[in-house]
Amino acid sequence: MSVPILPTISTVCIVISAVLVAVGWGRIKKGQIESHKKSMIAAAVFAVIFFIIYSSRTVFIGNTSFGGPDSLKTYYTVFLFFHILLSTTGAVLGIISLWSGMKDRLNIHRKLGPVTSTVWFGTGITGVLVYLLLYILYDGGETTSLIKAILGN
Ligand code: HEM
Repeated sequence: MSVPILPTISTVCIVISAVLVAVGWGRIKKGQIESHKKSMIAAAVFAVIFFIIYSSRTVFIGNTSFGGPDSLKTYYTVFLFFHILLSTTGAVLGIISLWSGMKDRLNIHRKLGPVTSTVWFGTGITGVLVYLLLYILYDGGETTSLIKAILGN
């Protein structure tokens, strides 16, 4: 087993982002608005770093298919789908939460904040599990990318 550099860095970014959301939630519980804002913006920065690494890897290097036993493939695919659903929902809710926080739309923000945070924790946890299943517990399968497909190798 070798640890793949880019997926490891991007998974670490997602974990840091989720931890910062937890910190931000704790800060607002103590009424510390300014430090809540800073933690949440930092969480968003780490999420963006994740996204840049993930999407450039997808274009230039490619996505890796599951390399574990065939009997687990269906479970892995369903789990991956669940993770993608959580992360996409989390990204949309995250943007609305940042926007409503900045614009002082606190009615929306107070309702949405806890939901966004919980979805983001789920994204982080399932993201780490996908990473473990794809690269650590089993050797990754084939990696193919758009660019490689176009260039013919
Ligand atoms: C820069 C962006 C943000 C600003 C300026 C901001 C500001 C605030 C403010 C002023 C409150 C207090 C509302 C009150 O008076 O009760 C609050 C609550 C909260 N925010 Fe944010 N927020 C931001 C981003 C976020 C993000 C991205 C999340 C989620 C990932 C989030 C989650 C929460 C939560 C969980 C609460 C507590 C809600 C409650 O228990 O009533 N915030 N925010």
